[in-house]
Amino acid sequence: MKINVGILGCGNHAKTHADVIHKSSYANLKACADIDLERANVFARKYDCDHSYASLKEMRSEHELDLLLIVAVPAVHPQLISEAIEQGIKAIICEKPLALNEQQARDIHALATENDVLVVEGLMYRSHPQIRRTKELLESGAIGDVQYIHGQFTDYNKLNPKNWRSNRSQGGGSMTAKGCYLVDACNYFSGSRAKAAFCMESINADLNVEVGETATIVYENGVTAQFETNHRSVWREELRVCGTNGTIVIPHAIVTKTQKRFIEIQRNGAYETRPMETERIEFEACNSYELQLINVYNHIKKGVELNLPITDSVINYMVTDALMKSVETGKLEPVLWDQ
Ligand SMILES: NC(=O)c1ccc[n+]([C@@H]2O[C@H](COP(=O)([O-])OP(=O)(O)OC[C@H]3O[C@@H](n4cnc5c(N)ncnc54)[C@H](O)[C@@H]3O)[C@@H](O)[C@H]2O)c1
Repeated sequence: MKINVGILGCGNHAKTHADVIHKSSYANLKACADIDLERANVFARKYDCDHSYASLKEMRSEHELDLLLIVAVPAVHPQLISEAIEQGIKAIICEKPLALNEQQARDIHALATENDVLVVEGLMYRSHPQIRRTKELLESGAIGDVQYIHGQFTDYNKLNPKNWRSNRSQGGGSMTAKGCYLVDACNYFSGSRAKAAFCMESINADLNVEVGETATIVYENGVTAQFETNHRSVWREELRVCGTNGTIVIPHAIVTKTQKRFIEIQRNGAYETRPMETERIEFEACNSYELQLINVYNHIKKGVELNLPITDSVINYMVTDALMKSVETGKLEPVLWDQ
């Protein structure tokens, strides 16, 4: 039987989720809501959804929902998750960023646990098979011991205060828009707890919003990770994991809806004298947002393991807090595990 899904926040990205639900055989878009009721109405018409509302409360008072997708601007995510739990919703996918700091993430985790509610952060890239395959390759020692991770997720984002990405009060900045994926990827592939973090930030003075972060994370097992996220260079979404015996490159690591993907294992190679040995692993076109929804559906129905448990999200915000502290102090800051 199909699960009934509600969407809260009917802006640009909600369409990606609605497209997936619309085509699925396991989910039904039962209702949608947005503080801008007209936007919710237009959205509902587009996706043959019979019910649109101006708030979660109104939507919830008329419908039982098996899953709520929160796709509103970042600053309101913690509040909306807490309202949804209060109103008896039992499963939530909240778009990234789940929270703006560690305390908010911990509060969400505690509330969800207390009320036996499933909360999953929408870092959909984790559901793409290339990420699982990379992790398996690392665990099988395909490139020896991991030493270094590098990530880039960048884009020319037009500075426009009406877009949340350029608006600090709505939780904007390249870190919440893009860097959150890289923190997660570094933590996931490092195979270790983060020890300390350092970060430098660029601010757009006109809008007083962050437009770039250059970050370093040091792990307890000796792995070092570095990443760049910014809104002022071409679209790039690459991850490289370097080990004692080679490198795995994921050239298109984050956003996948319709394209085939590949990862490449690179070994040896020196200057012009020794060509690099490469091995390419290809992946059929698939939609990561769909795979994320299927994973959550299978977790609810059959107890299948989640691709991204909320405990990983909480750790990501611990590391992010250390990165942000470092921006303030200009120093390498410890990741505080025992609070
Ligand atoms: N996973 C991805 O690939 C991906 C891509 C784009 C955006 N996103 C995420 O999706 C979220 C939305 O981004 P967007 O680009 O669609 O933004 P958007 O501004 O186009 O849409 C946000 C919508 O939320 C509504 N909203 C704001 N406050 C609300 C509230 N209190 N209750 C209900 N609705 C409210 C706004 O009216 C707007 O319609 C962000 O968290 C963003 O990070 C994820």
